[in-house]
Amino acid sequence: MPALVLLGAQWGDEGKGKATDLLGGSVDYVVRYQGGNNAGHTVVVGDQKYALHLLPSGILTPECTPVIGNGVVVDPSVLLSELSGLNERGVDTSKLLLSGNAHIITPYNVTLDKVTERFLGKRKIGTTGRGIGPTYADKINRVGIRVQDLYDESILTQKVEAALDVKNQVLTKLFNRRAISTDQVVEELLVYADKLAPYVTDTVLVLNQALEDDKVVLFEGGQGTLLDIDHGTYPFVTSSNPTAGGACTGAGVGPTKISRVIGILKAYTTRVGAGPFPTELFDEDGEALRRIGHERGVTTGRDRRCGWFDAVIARYATRVNGLTDFFLTKLDVLTGWEQIPVCVAYEIDGKRVEELPYSQSDFHHAKPIYENLPGWSEDISSAKSFSDLPKNAQAYVKALEEMSGAPISAIGVGPGRDETIEINSFI
Ligand code: GDP
Ligand code: IMO
Ligand code: MG
Repeated sequence: MPALVLLGAQWGDEGKGKATDLLGGSVDYVVRYQGGNNAGHTVVVGDQKYALHLLPSGILTPECTPVIGNGVVVDPSVLLSELSGLNERGVDTSKLLLSGNAHIITPYNVTLDKVTERFLGKRKIGTTGRGIGPTYADKINRVGIRVQDLYDESILTQKVEAALDVKNQVLTKLFNRRAISTDQVVEELLVYADKLAPYVTDTVLVLNQALEDDKVVLFEGGQGTLLDIDHGTYPFVTSSNPTAGGACTGAGVGPTKISRVIGILKAYTTRVGAGPFPTELFDEDGEALRRIGHERGVTTGRDRRCGWFDAVIARYATRVNGLTDFFLTKLDVLTGWEQIPVCVAYEIDGKRVEELPYSQSDFHHAKPIYENLPGWSEDISSAKSFSDLPKNAQAYVKALEEMSGAPISAIGVGPGRDETIEINSFI
């Protein structure tokens, strides 16, 4: 019956794709439960590298059924091109299941995302421009278009018309753009209907039956804890709940079914887009982390902001997600530093603060208090067990574990599937 949640413990790009792919061989279903093609998950299998955006990383494991849950927002053109891209590379994608209740990212919401960001100017969020925020806003406003609407032309037309009534006013009068025609949108969406039909189903029923049948289900989060709309650094966040509770609402599975929650934690910190980031580095160490860690966005190609490990954030992720384990990634990137600073607490207005402040203003003023840990110079990429690691690398992992509040059960020492040290088994 085990259901596991695997999610980002920082600001995204922790290596969730690799971790999910690694577990894919032992699970029956891999489910995306929130977000959309704002995600960019890199999976390296042998000499092949895959960049996934909307598809669960389990798609690369033939025995595994990939599922796009009701909580995901789906851009049909992106989904279809991702599928055909994989098919051309010989990956069988026929097992994919897509929730009929998932919301569709319509072309007007992609436009609205981009023009809103332009309009905000210096105050922009730095979104991925994929229409994520406007689509979730429509969902909450009850004017969204769902996958199932593609199969009833009359309902689809009425819904698109209702949505555009208001949006065209905004587009023409506020943003000085041309109005979008209902017919054109409906025509475009209907083209996707037949192509998506083989995948569309009641994924809630399928997943609950699978759990009753003792199948192993893995819920794969997009983004990360600090990008969560409720628990992240609002308003510099995404518009969904990557935190563990999101798996329940975004897939229709009760919390009693979830047995393990694994936080993916980078051995340092990165962030894409705007917003506070206490340990951000603007010096050559930041440049070195970016260069050695190849910290460039998979979705937008933007350079990621880089900084040292922040234990305050890790503790917070443990708390809001009820983490049972961490998967520490990219330890290999830290090889070569004589000393590695780790943020153990913040100084806010002259006071030492151990936990993430709930107040946005306080977090904006938070200055990291660092402890220096001794580094190592040996190449660790071929380490297969914890004892293969140099003593100082072992001590770094142990120190992070102690500060972060959950056991580190696996360590990534390179991007490949086999470049992983497993300490406790996940399943
Ligand atoms: P995700 O969004 O959380 O799936 O992460 P991304 O794929 O956006 O970014 C993580 C990057 O780190 C990818 O390029 C991975 O191939 C790479 N990666 C994952 N784990 C490791 C690791 O342990 N070491 C190294 N060097 N790279 C890793
Ligand atoms: P993965 O799954 C890192 C960031 C954007 C922006 C904010 C809002 O690869 O970890 P959005 O387009 O979601 O409205 O943008 O969230 N963001 C990510 N940052 N990794 C991601 O996904 C992200 N998805 C969104 O940069 O700051
Ligand atoms: Mg990513």
